[in-house]
Amino acid sequence: MTATFRSYLEALKINGELLEITTATDARDIAALVPQSEQAILFQNVRGYSMPVASGLLQSRNRLALAMGVPYEKIESKLRAAMEHPIAPQRVQRGAVKEVVRTGTDVNVFELPVPVFSIMDGGPMITGGVVIGEDPEFGMNAGVYRLMLKERDITGIDIVTPNNLRKFAERSLQQKKPLPISISIGTHPYELVASTFKANLGVNELTFAGGLRGEPLALADGETIPVPCIADAEIVLEGEILPEGWVHPEGPFCEFNRLMGGIHLNPRVRIKAVMHRKNPIYYALHMPWENIWMSAPIYEAAAWRVLHEAGVHATAINVTPGGCCHWHIVAAIKKSPGDGKNAIMALLSIADIKHVTIVDDDIDVFDAIDVEWAVATRVQADRDVLIVSNARSKPLDPSLPPSTTGKIPTTAKMGIDATIPDNVPASRYNRIVYYNQGKVQLKDYLDSGVKQAPPTEPSDTQAVSQKILGELANSHRFFAELLELFPQIDYRAIATALGGLHEQGRINQDGDGKYQMKQPTRPE
Ligand SMILES: Cc1cc2nc3c(=O)[nH]c(=O)nc-3n(C[C@H](O)[C@H](O)[C@H](O)COP(=O)(O)O)c2cc1C
Repeated sequence: MTATFRSYLEALKINGELLEITTATDARDIAALVPQSEQAILFQNVRGYSMPVASGLLQSRNRLALAMGVPYEKIESKLRAAMEHPIAPQRVQRGAVKEVVRTGTDVNVFELPVPVFSIMDGGPMITGGVVIGEDPEFGMNAGVYRLMLKERDITGIDIVTPNNLRKFAERSLQQKKPLPISISIGTHPYELVASTFKANLGVNELTFAGGLRGEPLALADGETIPVPCIADAEIVLEGEILPEGWVHPEGPFCEFNRLMGGIHLNPRVRIKAVMHRKNPIYYALHMPWENIWMSAPIYEAAAWRVLHEAGVHATAINVTPGGCCHWHIVAAIKKSPGDGKNAIMALLSIADIKHVTIVDDDIDVFDAIDVEWAVATRVQADRDVLIVSNARSKPLDPSLPPSTTGKIPTTAKMGIDATIPDNVPASRYNRIVYYNQGKVQLKDYLDSGVKQAPPTEPSDTQAVSQKILGELANSHRFFAELLELFPQIDYRAIATALGGLHEQGRINQDGDGKYQMKQPTRPE
């Protein structure tokens, strides 16, 4: 079955990841409702609009795994394979998205249930559109850029930061020509993830979407522009970036860093056609959470790649949501001496990555307490923290000083090597393991007597003491080993017998803490 927005919604439904709400919902409440849900939401009845709204579709590891069609830990290799074996899109004449086509005076973007997100937004904001543009020299480009609704047939487009679409628009502006673009809303996540790759100029990110699909992505010919759109999308806007330059205030925007961005001066887009399926579903990609979660697999793929290149054996990688899935990496490695530092240098080379923590493979990189414990117990700051100044920054980092020169300021980067130091005895890192850990189960004690501890015999302390002495005559033993050796003897009897032997001065503990027969003291 071809992967579409609808097939993904179905996958969410089958896997218990989709909540359907039929109660009439106000579009202004959607942004606040979505983060309260453990599932993605399909708002079936949006007051004042004829189409449902889906949101929160990519807001967890499980949903990302469903979107990519593989277990979460396999996403990285799937992305890598897609980039190594891209498949060019295929042009088709018709597509489901053309079931309804409105052009000319019938164009009205306010018919779409585009919600507002924050209290500061300048207006309804399209957040999940795959924007396709073409340049005579560099070919096709795809990216996700937000578009604020302004007039019935006018939106903004946020291409304020340097990216490939901005480059195309600048080149058109130089020639005083509009730049045709299509905006496909409600695509399979393959297209969204592929188009957020920052591929080099001249590389069409939709070929990665083909790689992810294992077949070409179908692109339908444009109705009013020479640029195609995604044939199976729910909704498509066709338009032109007007050759007016970066002069129109747009925003403020909810940014991936969970903060409000400012007003941007952007170009405007004239919408020439609105096309959609007969019963379309509008996709309100939730800002910032879906933007955050979506980025994790992309950076994780880069992290695996650079660690592999650096010859470091990584076992787990987490690009953390707390770091907005853009700035922080926690990586677990099977360490040879020095690998902690090499891993830091490799990971900090990834653009945008600002802070890196390296742990051993006994630490769960997805458990913040475990990672912090490694930092607390394995790090000496003057030995294990690397700081690099003046590296390339991600402009949306609010901790950077405001630019005075118009240039983007550089950033500091930091790596923490929280692996066990090479020069301390391994015995310092013996973990606490409870007696019978993993063998006894709480549930067995809850189901009234189903499986309780096996009964032990009440024992004569004197006889138990003799058994213990007999054992210690052959070898030193931990307390737990003695318990293990005599499972049928009552716990209290063993503890009491050991206490008695202590009192009699017949046993003591060796340097490791094992019991031993006390050596007779030499006569003076
Ligand atoms: C949900 C979402 C919203 C985004 N919004 C914008 C945006 O408004 N402006 C922008 O420049 N980049 C935005 N991005 C990032 C671009 O899509 C990304 O940098 C892409 O690689 C740019 O492609 P390009 O360099 O081929 O133009 C967004 C990404 C996501 C996932």
